[in-house]
Amino acid sequence: MLEIASKVHDESRQGEAFAPNAVADKQFKKHFYIESYGCAMNFSDSEIVASILNTEGFGATKNSDEADLIFLNTCSIRDKAEQTIRKRLTEFRVIKKQKPGLLIGVLGCMAERLKAKLLEEEKLVDLVIGPDAYRSLPSLIQEAETGQKAVNVLLSRDETYGDISPIRLNSNGVTAFVSITRGCNNMCSFCVVPFTRGRERSRDAYSIVAEAQDLFNNGYKEVTLLGQNVDSYIWMDEQNDKSITFAKLLEMVALISPELRVRFSTSHPKDITDEVLFTMSKYENICKCIHLPVQSGNTRVLELMNRTYTREWYISKYNRIKEIMPDCSVTSDMIAGFCTETEEEHNDTLSLMELCRFDYSYMYYYSERPGTLAERKLEDDVPELVKKRRLQEIIDVQSRLSRENNQLDLGKTYKVLIEAESKKDSSDWKGRNTHNKVLVFPKGEHQFKAGDYVMVKVNKVTQGTLLGEIVSTQNS
Ligand code: SAM
Ligand code: SF4
Ligand code: F3S
Repeated sequence: MLEIASKVHDESRQGEAFAPNAVADKQFKKHFYIESYGCAMNFSDSEIVASILNTEGFGATKNSDEADLIFLNTCSIRDKAEQTIRKRLTEFRVIKKQKPGLLIGVLGCMAERLKAKLLEEEKLVDLVIGPDAYRSLPSLIQEAETGQKAVNVLLSRDETYGDISPIRLNSNGVTAFVSITRGCNNMCSFCVVPFTRGRERSRDAYSIVAEAQDLFNNGYKEVTLLGQNVDSYIWMDEQNDKSITFAKLLEMVALISPELRVRFSTSHPKDITDEVLFTMSKYENICKCIHLPVQSGNTRVLELMNRTYTREWYISKYNRIKEIMPDCSVTSDMIAGFCTETEEEHNDTLSLMELCRFDYSYMYYYSERPGTLAERKLEDDVPELVKKRRLQEIIDVQSRLSRENNQLDLGKTYKVLIEAESKKDSSDWKGRNTHNKVLVFPKGEHQFKAGDYVMVKVNKVTQGTLLGEIVSTQNS
């Protein structure tokens, strides 16, 4: 595990089996089991898939043994992600042998990247469905039930699934993802996403607000607005003849209730605007945390990556955030050992990290992806051992920064949204503060529940968690 934290947009999240009920619901004639891999957008898509299947009479199950359909919602971001899926498919081969009627479907980015080739490579797979083709699932399942292999990997310019109410899977009943854009128009040279997810499109702002309102009405207290590049959200409100920017959308969601927290991910340094920063600072319930991936701290490497900003641009954006919101947490992504990166250029990444003092980062070593600009135009010439060593240096710096930043929280009191009981100790609550940091604290004598806000004073810290005690409440 290379990442040091497990938060939104963590591609290390793998294989969580999602289902609302532990046992198959008898009202459904058939059951599906779904495992999701990759980024938060994929997890969010699984909830759309569940909704489409539900209306067709398929209930979700957490137990693959009682499923008539098994889906893997896949990720292609790095080679390792695809290898994990291949291994999982091998395991399903055993189940399929014992249950010949069982259908196995591959959804998501790997389905899109490999298309029908996946059926040749993985003989047990019956369905291959790309991220924009989930509405065709019912007819493809019917096709597959007759023994044919079914494929739909058409990408769309306008599909947003905006009218579909996702079925919340494995939910804590407090926090939820809401997709606001699909696809990506950037062409970062290392990245497979523009090929697997297609062109960027923004979802109807009113359907986003309605979904967030509905979540709030059902007891949810936090929504995370999702997109590969949320700052480029733009939707034309034709009825009122005005376009809605990301800043405006943020405000619309924040106004649902001061009790509803709003987060978003991911921001691109070239697109995040002052308007967004001022909107964040205006509303207490918009969390003060920006995930702003830098990828590299060296301008030449950033240019090769086609990130369209320089080291200096990134630093000035970072400074602007701190100027408008001194207390805003900034987090990042880094790639070690990109094509032709020198030792000196790698050191620029380390020095930028020291300068920005990120609260946490997702860190990877470069993995060449077929079809990307880098694969076609650049040489993947940094030896694997060097990539891994550089990555370790990046991880070491980040671990220290996270620890040091957490030390600064000692003695501070934060408003915490309780998410659930701590997995380690049921006498503790687990929640997050505005900075998306996890706090664990004793339940004590107080009668709180998940979804309540409490004030927690930090009295101990580790690299990944703040430990504290309840000092007063927000709800009472
Ligand atoms: N759209 C976001 C952005 O631009 O920052 C995130 C995109 S991607 C789903 C998440 C992270 O995976 C990227 O920020 C990058 O650090 C990493 N990544 C993408 N392609 C990669 C590759 N080929 N090798 C290693 N890491 C990669
Ligand atoms: Fe990939 Fe770049 Fe788009 Fe992010 S912004 S999804 S890294 S192409
Ligand atoms: Fe997400 Fe992986 Fe696709 S990171 S967009 S599931 S390639």
